[in-house]
Amino acid sequence: MPDRILVTTDDLEHAVRINAGLEAAGFDTAMVSSFDDVRQAVRGRGVQPDCIILTGGLHESPAKQLLASAQDHAISTLGLVEATEPEPKDLARELGLTAWLAKPVDPNEAVTTTRRLIDRRKLQQRTGIMGESAPIQEVLVKIEQMAPVTSTVLVEGESGTGKELVAKGIHDLSPRRGKPFIAVNCAALPETLLESELFGHEKGAFTGAAERRLGRFELADGGTIFLDEVGEMSPSTQVKLLRVLEDHTFFRVGGVQPIKVDVRVIAASNRALKDGVALGQFRDDLFYRLNVLAIYLPPLRERRSDIPLLVRRFIAEFAAQHDRQFNGITPEALQILVDAEWPGNVRQLRNLVESMVVLAPEGEIRAADIPPDIRDRTGGRGLPVLVPGSRASRDVAGQEVQFILRSLVELKLQIEELRRRVEDRPVPARRVEMIEVAPADPLDVEAATEGPVIYRAGMTMADVERAAIEAALKETRGNRRKAAEVLGIGERTLYRKLKEYQLA
Ligand SMILES: Nc1ncnc2c1ncn2[C@@H]1O[C@H](COP(=O)(O)OP(=O)(O)OP(=O)(O)O)[C@@H](O)[C@H]1O
Ligand SMILES: [Mg+2]
Repeated sequence: MPDRILVTTDDLEHAVRINAGLEAAGFDTAMVSSFDDVRQAVRGRGVQPDCIILTGGLHESPAKQLLASAQDHAISTLGLVEATEPEPKDLARELGLTAWLAKPVDPNEAVTTTRRLIDRRKLQQRTGIMGESAPIQEVLVKIEQMAPVTSTVLVEGESGTGKELVAKGIHDLSPRRGKPFIAVNCAALPETLLESELFGHEKGAFTGAAERRLGRFELADGGTIFLDEVGEMSPSTQVKLLRVLEDHTFFRVGGVQPIKVDVRVIAASNRALKDGVALGQFRDDLFYRLNVLAIYLPPLRERRSDIPLLVRRFIAEFAAQHDRQFNGITPEALQILVDAEWPGNVRQLRNLVESMVVLAPEGEIRAADIPPDIRDRTGGRGLPVLVPGSRASRDVAGQEVQFILRSLVELKLQIEELRRRVEDRPVPARRVEMIEVAPADPLDVEAATEGPVIYRAGMTMADVERAAIEAALKETRGNRRKAAEVLGIGERTLYRKLKEYQLA
């Protein structure tokens, strides 16, 4: 089916020439005389346009409404700006145009730009990666370039910036798309479990290994494995990973037969992996192996121009999901979201928009609906926008109810996120419980052996592991075989660790 383009006739001369150019290039085009007709086409249930070209009238309010609803529906827009327009770039950004061209416009240039917008839109639909900012556009170009090959990719960026979305996008655009995409969070499992998770184990490889189990590398054969938080991998697992990357073979834990697989590796890290190399925590040879192709996702606060679009799309998505009639967001509320700090990046923004769509009483997000912690976190860009009038007089009881409701929704979202993470974990939860207590002497392991293993601020993974071993030995009255079983590790590993922590 050819791509469908609507051309408004505000500037009839441009409209006719561009329409003819598009038709000649094989597009399904139509000229539309009023913005209302275009809006109906955007909102209607029939075939939606893939791109709208506005030939004029950009300063009029129907154009603004049309552009807002095109954004909600992820339809690309190209605006033709008068030659006299003083700041065309600012106008385009303010209106939310996907692209603009200054008049007089050569029809061939309009056709080329339209084609580029449509290709990009399809790519964004397939990957789910939204954003018009230069860094996001660069990421999309890289995904397209990297998808067809098998080289390893390293995706870096803070938490919630979309690393998994990028990895999945590369897989979905690659020739491997019909094969498995398997994600493993390397920080979620202790060393021995991670190794058997990645490479599998033979029956009897360690206590509790009642059956042979295939590892994720075998299950991903022909497809892609996504190694999240790869920087947290222990040195011994790093060696094994290096081997897989170098000659595509590995051994199951306890196995003697080398196993060959064809798996593309995409790794991610939310801190610069190079720093891990400098600190001696990450092998440099592995780093270079992983970093053959690299993608960096900047934090949301460095691409604030994407925030309005993300907010609009999330509102449209959640209004549909929760079946709510929703009018959108006021300009002042949007400004607060644009200025906020977003330490949790797109994930945090998305979760917040969901809670506001559920809770905003007026079917519209207003400044007062934004939780104070977001409003106050304006990233050193000055005071938050002050909202005059009515909201300030909202009665206190109403605010408390709002606060409680919002907390409940946020709690629900957090629980869902936790459940998702637990369900992603391929092994049953371990028996050792971790609870947070007030900071105390971090090395006071005596106290830690009372009941569940205790995590305190300042404890390293080694401290926790040592405390877990001590707790298990205490629980099993010093029976090392049973302690190893309780810990889900092999007896030999336990002996090694006893020595390592000088507990033997
Ligand atoms: N550019 C984007 N457009 C739309 N949604 C996005 C974008 N970036 C991230 N998201 C959404 O934000 C959430 C977090 O994304 P994702 O899990 O890919 O981040 P991450 O970098 O892997 O985070 P973490 O480091 O915490 O694992 C997801 O719901 C994802 O769909
Ligand atoms: Mg992730």
